[in-house]
Amino acid sequence: MYKSFYSLAQTPFSKEIRPLDAFPATDYKGALNALKYLEKSKGIGLLIGEPGVGKTFTLRSFKESLSPSLYQVIYFPLSTGGVMDFYRGLAYGLGEEPKFRKVDLFRQIQRGIERIVEERRITPVFILDEMHMAKDAFLQDIALLFNFQMDSTNPFILVLSGLPHLKTRLALNHHRPLTQRIIMKYEIQPLTKEEVSNYIDHHLKIAGAKMPIFTEAAKEAITLRSQGWPRVINTLTINSLLFGSQLNKEQIDEEIVRLAIEDSKL
Ligand SMILES: Nc1ncnc2c1ncn2[C@@H]1O[C@H](COP(=O)(O)OP(=O)(O)OP(=O)(O)O)[C@@H](O)[C@H]1O
Ligand SMILES: [Mg+2]
Repeated sequence: MYKSFYSLAQTPFSKEIRPLDAFPATDYKGALNALKYLEKSKGIGLLIGEPGVGKTFTLRSFKESLSPSLYQVIYFPLSTGGVMDFYRGLAYGLGEEPKFRKVDLFRQIQRGIERIVEERRITPVFILDEMHMAKDAFLQDIALLFNFQMDSTNPFILVLSGLPHLKTRLALNHHRPLTQRIIMKYEIQPLTKEEVSNYIDHHLKIAGAKMPIFTEAAKEAITLRSQGWPRVINTLTINSLLFGSQLNKEQIDEEIVRLAIEDSKL
């Protein structure tokens, strides 16, 4: 309903935003560059950040930037299944019928990786999201599973992503075999004050807004409350648009934002 009230062609601040429409925040570009470095050097990288800062979206952009004729991307968010599902998924993803026992499955995955690298000249890219949820045993498995080298170079790319405490956990002694092999680390920071305002304008422009809908004071209120976390900005702006249209306000001021903040309990 607010879409027609504000003459928007599309729903703004959508989760399904295309990488092409990304807001070019400094840290978004920084994280993508770090991933591009990993693409060249291959090996293991770590991408961390607070909830809603844009990790999954950045990983999606990275995935879409890779040519399917050179890279095979296997994305696995830990919230979606158990670790055995992950190993089986890996085997499937590599074109193998998964073996039953874990040891056999591991050997099979390693062979599968070698095969697609040597025979098809394709680099497998494993993206493990929400890794802060991983149990210690899984992190240790990952160290084992990806501890093989061909011609002394890494034949794969592995990205571990999660909340900042993943870094603290990985720093523990028993994870050193894995941590020592991480060659890229990037922590995505929230948007700066200036970026929040541009982020809001950017999203509204993509949605087809013809003129500014939020006053400067409204955007400042969102900046203050959101602390620059994109997901919070999305929620507050959508809520503000809802309230604004209900109250027949052509322009959204800080009063509407205050209502939106109260309503979203953020
Ligand atoms: N550079 C950007 N341009 C446009 N939208 C963005 C950008 N970064 C983040 N977003 C928006 O922020 C939302 C939240 O980002 P995302 O889901 O990637 O966060 P996350 O860090 O993975 O959070 P969580 O830790 O909860 O999984 C995305 O749905 C997207 O709409
Ligand atoms: Mg995420």
